Amino acid sequence: MTDVTITVNGSVRSASVPPETTLLKLLRDVFQLTGTKLGCDVGDCGACTVLVDGMAVNACLMLAAQADGRQVLTIEGLAMKDRLHPLQKVFEESGALQCGFCGPGMLLSAKALLDDNPDPSSHDIRDALAGNLCRCTGYSKIVEAVQDAARAMRDPRTEDTRQLEMHGHD
Ligand code: FES
Ligand code: FES
Repeated sequence: MTDVTITVNGSVRSASVPPETTLLKLLRDVFQLTGTKLGCDVGDCGACTVLVDGMAVNACLMLAAQADGRQVLTIEGLAMKDRLHPLQKVFEESGALQCGFCGPGMLLSAKALLDDNPDPSSHDIRDALAGNLCRCTGYSKIVEAVQDAARAMRDPRTEDTRQLEMHGHD
């Protein structure tokens, strides 16, 4: 067994798991964070995307042990207290998703992009979301939703932006 300690959504969590355990399995089966989805399990669909030290990774391809000592953000940690992240808000309001299965991974890839590039072109967004497959929608509404969220986050008048600054949420 391998001992793993990671900070998940701001809380330190530890577990002792077989060495071949993936980060996805650790999150879903051990920590019961089932918002991260199991799709292909081989790195093709992006449903399992989480942020590790701010970088979008496929949790099905990463061993839990490789995440030891690192910061992991899952969809459960994206909202700030009881307030949705601007990306979640825009996705919800615009109906950018249908079944929603791809949503957690899509939102976290989009967050990694916006943290790095607050004013992405639609090309940048398509590039950043290229590893996140959606079986239900064309991607146009998703790209527009990310652009709208980016606009809202850049606008100093929006309450969401003020909250982000106050809490230093990343
Ligand atoms: S479940 Fe990880 S990429 Fe598909
Ligand atoms: S909304 Fe169904 S897979 Fe994307």
